[in-house]
Amino acid sequence: PTIPVIAVDGPSASGKGSVADRVAQQLGFHYLDSGAIYRLLAYAAQAQQVAWSDGPVLAQVAAEMHIQFEAGEIYLNGIAVSQHIRSEQMGKGASEVAVHPDVRKALLQTQKNFRQLPGLVADGRDMGSVVFPDARLKVFLTAGVETRAQRRFDQLIQRGEQADFNTILEDLKQRDLRDSQRTSAPLQQLPDALLVDTTHMTIAQAVAMILDAWKKCI
Ligand code: C5P
Repeated sequence: PTIPVIAVDGPSASGKGSVADRVAQQLGFHYLDSGAIYRLLAYAAQAQQVAWSDGPVLAQVAAEMHIQFEAGEIYLNGIAVSQHIRSEQMGKGASEVAVHPDVRKALLQTQKNFRQLPGLVADGRDMGSVVFPDARLKVFLTAGVETRAQRRFDQLIQRGEQADFNTILEDLKQRDLRDSQRTSAPLQQLPDALLVDTTHMTIAQAVAMILDAWKKCI
């Protein structure tokens, strides 16, 4: 039997990360934050002075990355970098490096390797469409763009960072467009995915909805 996967795809700041992580914890499954891998590549490229537009060289950088997720920290070639990759700048860089088909191909196996017993919850943009097309449960987790902008704004303020609501809103709209209109693995709501719209939902409610759907899958 194949190792079970729950694929959670959706736009930026929809709450995918928090929800997918909690679902994984509840089930005792592994968790893959695939966006972090694209962020790591944007970060590695910047450190090596490789442009985010240079697909072929980025694919090489991607192939050479050594990534470890451990106890809430992310290591790139042995160095803890989670603080660095969480910035808005690296979110933007991630969405730019992610448009290159060569890059996506170079990162495919890295992502598939997270599929380990007893199971995996993976979040991103193409978990259900490309990386784990045979996922037992596919979820499309979303929220209205204004709600997502407000959540991102609150998060930044809470971290003590400066934030401007309208700038965040415009950035999110741009990222949504780039992620859904690219030709290689665009963000899409798959016909066989469970729609979870968290605009008027708490994280706990979204988690409960997914766990409920999971019980019906097994
Ligand atoms: O989820 P997160 O905001 O960390 O992802 C950053 C960017 O990485 C996204 O805007 C998207 O362009 C890209 N990404 C992707 N495929 C994934 C996960 C993230 O293209 N599976």
